[in-house]
Parts: sequence; C-alpha cells; structure tokens
Amino acid sequence: MSNFFTPLIIVAAGLLVSKTCTGQNNRTAKDTTDRKWWKEAVVYQVYPRSFKDMDGDGIGDLKGIISKLDYIKSLGVDVVWLNPIYGSPNDDNGYDVSDYRNIMKDFGTMDDFDTMLKGMHTRGIKLVMDLVVNHSSDEHEWFKQSRSSRKNPYREYYHWWNAEKGKPPYRYSLFDVNHDAWRYDSLTNAYYLHYFSRKQPDLNWENPKLRAEVYDIMKFWADKGIDGFRLDAFQFAAKDTTFPAFPNGFERDFTQYYGMQGNLHGYLQEMNQEVLSKYNVMSVAEGAGNTFEDAHNLVDANRNELNMAYAFEAVDIAKPDGYSVVHLKDVFTKWDSAFTDKGWLSIFLANHDQARLVSRFGNDSPQFREASSKMLTTFIMTMRGTPYYYNGDELGMTNAGFTKIEDYRDVQTLNEYQRQKNIGADMQAYLKFIAFSSRDNGRTPFQWDATQNSGFTKGTPWINVNSNYKTINAASQEKDPNSTLNYFRKVVKLRKNNPVLVYGKYTLIDRENPDTYAYTRELNGKKLLILLNFKNKAMNAKTGIDLSKATILLSNYDKPSNTGRLRPYGAVIYELN
Ligand code: NOJ
Repeated sequence: MSNFFTPLIIVAAGLLVSKTCTGQNNRTAKDTTDRKWWKEAVVYQVYPRSFKDMDGDGIGDLKGIISKLDYIKSLGVDVVWLNPIYGSPNDDNGYDVSDYRNIMKDFGTMDDFDTMLKGMHTRGIKLVMDLVVNHSSDEHEWFKQSRSSRKNPYREYYHWWNAEKGKPPYRYSLFDVNHDAWRYDSLTNAYYLHYFSRKQPDLNWENPKLRAEVYDIMKFWADKGIDGFRLDAFQFAAKDTTFPAFPNGFERDFTQYYGMQGNLHGYLQEMNQEVLSKYNVMSVAEGAGNTFEDAHNLVDANRNELNMAYAFEAVDIAKPDGYSVVHLKDVFTKWDSAFTDKGWLSIFLANHDQARLVSRFGNDSPQFREASSKMLTTFIMTMRGTPYYYNGDELGMTNAGFTKIEDYRDVQTLNEYQRQKNIGADMQAYLKFIAFSSRDNGRTPFQWDATQNSGFTKGTPWINVNSNYKTINAASQEKDPNSTLNYFRKVVKLRKNNPVLVYGKYTLIDRENPDTYAYTRELNGKKLLILLNFKNKAMNAKTGIDLSKATILLSNYDKPSNTGRLRPYGAVIYELN
C-alpha cells in the first residue's frame, strides 16, 4: 500500500505478492498493442488546491487552472487528472465529498467548471475526474439522514453496528487518531465504519439504491463531457458485512483483508454496463489488490470492468535511508511481465499521496536535483503502461522542508502526530520521518515564478510555499532550454512520436547491476535502449550491446557517451537500428 497510508503506522509490504497470474490466458500479446487513446495518453495530475489561486483566498481554484491551460498544453500531455473538486468540508482535501454534483466553494462554480472543461477540450486535452465513492463526507445529506434514526431509509447507505451487539470486531482506520475504524454515535447507539477519517464514513455498496445513486452521479459528469474516472480507494468498497474478527495484527497487511472483497467485481461490471460502456471514458482504479490475478481481473478487457489500475508496490520502495535499485527493477519488471499479454497498467512514482518524486527517488541536493529529476522523468516516460505524472515534478519541485507540526495540513499526518504523542513516541523522530514522507511534501503550492508566494496566490497560501521557489520555478525554467521543464516536454514528445514507447515489448538487461537500470523497448522492428544511472557517481551500464552505431534520441546531459558510461544520474535513450 502506498506510503500515503503509512507514516509510522504500517508498511503493508504484502500488498502485492509475487504470485503469477494463473488465470486462463486465452489471448495474445496483440491485446496489449490494441491501440487505445488512454494507452497512448500522458496523464498530468493537477492538485487543484495548490495549482493556481485567482481570487486571492490562498487556495487554488478552477479559474486558476483555466489561466494555466496554455501551460498544460505546452507540456504536450493529453489528459488532466484532477483531484476532487466537489462540495466538501475538506477534512481530507476534497476526498470527503458532501455534494457530488456541485463544485467546492473554495474552487469556484459550475460555470467555472464548464469553462475549464471547454478550455481543455478546445486544446485537445481530456479530463479525468476523481470519483470518491468508497466513502462520503459525514456532512453529506445521505449520512445526515442515515445517522438520524435506525429506521431512516438512508440507514443502509452506510455500515452500522448496533451497540447492543457489543463492540464490533476491530477494524483498522488509516487516518483515525486511534486507528479505530468504528466510531460510536450516541444518537442511535450504534457504530459506523470509516476506513479513513471519522469524517469519511464508508458507503454500503451492497445496497442497490446506493449503487444506482453513484451511477447517476457518474452519468451527470459523463454527460457534461468529461473523459474518465479515477476510482478512489475502490478496491476497499466491498466488505464482508458480517464483519468477522480478523487475526491480531491484520492491520500490518490490511489490504489482504480489505482489498477486493465480496462482490467488488460484480459492482464494477454493473458500473461498466450502466455507465462506463455508454461513454468514451477511461477508467482507472486506485489500488490493484493483493495479487496479479486481482489486478488482471480489474483490467482484463474481456471482463468489462476497468481500463487500468495503479499498483503501489513500486512507490513504497523508497524509504528515508534509500532503496535498492535492483528491487525497483524487479518490481517494475515483474509487473510488466504479468501484463505482457493482457490488461494495462499505470506507471507512476509520485502523486498527491506521496512526497516529491525527486526527494524520494532521486537526489534533491542542488548538485544533482536537475539530473536526477530528468532521469526519473525519462524512466516514467519510457515504460510500458500509461504514465501518470504529478504537477510540479516537471520543475523538479522538492520536499517541503517543514520542521514543525504547525506547517502541516494533512489529516493523516496530523492525526498520526497526535497518536504518536498519545503513545509517548519520540516526536523528533516522527517530525524527521514526516519531513521525508508526509503527503504535504507534494502539496505545497506550484512554483510559477520568483514573485511573492511563487506566483501561486496574492493572499496567504493555505500551506506554505517551499522556500526554494526563487530558484526552482516555471518562469526561470521556461527561459532555459536545458531546464527540467523543457526536458520533460522533450521526453513527452518523444513518447508521443514513438509508439514503441507505448506498446513496445520491455526487456530488462543487466538485472544485478545495483546502480543502473537498462532495458529495451521493441515494436515492429524498432528497438530502443534506455540507460539510467540511479547513483550520484558515473557508472557503467553493462548491456553487451555495441552502441557505437546507435542513434542517441535524448539524454539529460550534453554529449552522452556511446559506450554505456553514464554520468551521475545520467539517462540516455538510444535507437538501436
Ligand atoms: C486515496 C486518495 O488518493 C487520498 O488522497 C485520500 O486521502 C484517500 N484515498 C481517501 O479518499
């Protein structure tokens, strides 16, 4: 499970076991080369709260996004994934929806939304919206009704446990200050379930009425013309509602117990039939279950569920004391090979639930920030699967550098801080840990320029701007042909112009090399070789391939060698024939 769930809590390392897919493989590799727009897309994730504020309240808004559509277009990406913009009290920055058919006041109005969508479509950019339906806000009308009485028709929209049955079997909550997913409500003398915060009660997918409501909501947005849905936390939506006791310590690997339960696939097939199949929309699940088989079952085109899923195993590798490059290679290679013949994956190493890409997987020191950032971008854009790229990473934005708890805003970070305090933990150690891993590291305002508040807002930003904005910002990088921003544009363009980078077969070379990552991509007689150095020293990639006649398509340094020698964090893409 992604580390967004994990500050000092749990590392659910068992999320993805190395079990190979045993499902009947009755299709051929051709399936994975069937052309689809969502396979060829580069998805750029916009975190609306931190992107651009136009009304001066310190919070990003839709008008801000509208004002930056030309910038987004200039990146060469073709899909924007927008985090939730619906009505919400913002306990979890919009992942607690109180009104699924309206725009959060902080972000603007439905007219703004319509203008934004039109502005995207005019520029040939598609829009994917977050669909948050594992849970709603406790301020949603459904929940207000549900909690009002045991007899209320909305009671069955959520999971309740009547207190006269005694305490319900322990369920772990990811964001609760006590990690307890059952919250007692005296109004009806019952507990409700919340896998996330107390203000995010879980919806009851067994209830057909709830499901019909969700499909209507999806149609509402699809009819507006949006181009896809990202299903938030959906692998947890179905539960065993008899709520059996789980073994002690299950929370260390809770996805085994929470993921892909009950009739989840049935619900997805129904959703597909009712909504997804009726529109030209893409769909992507957050989370891919416990096994490759789970993941396949979500995205196997024959099953008519979703188009793709993203798995967390890779993003979890980065730890405060580093990570093994061989491990990283193994994870990506294992996933690629499991999806050689069918299904499709997302490729990502960062998003709004992670600390910054360059700070976790690269090197954010002034000396190596640019090179390592470009190298990681090269990696993400040259793997098979649809790349998801988080806003600000194209500038090589770094972790926030917060040193005190007052700087943080994230519900998970703050609740966990309180919990650590309650249990008498070493709080300095916790602060150090969140400086590396808190989700807020990736949520500081976008660094547009060197003016006050990085050009993000004229007001007081909801979360502090990173103090390095005067040196790391879009305006200065626009002027520099070698900036990380302009490098990002080049590598995106290269991907868009080379279907081999989308569909081509991936082959790992020199697996044991602890410093470099080398692989080829091949399609219809075209073969590219990608060499990446993950270390701060020059390294040799041992490919056994004669590079003297290879054409260099792109590199993050001038005049890269044609011997496989890579400069610190060097990245080179060669064409071999
Ligand atoms: C996953 C989202 O990406 C995260 O930001 C959110 O806190 C949880 N789901 C709960 O909705």
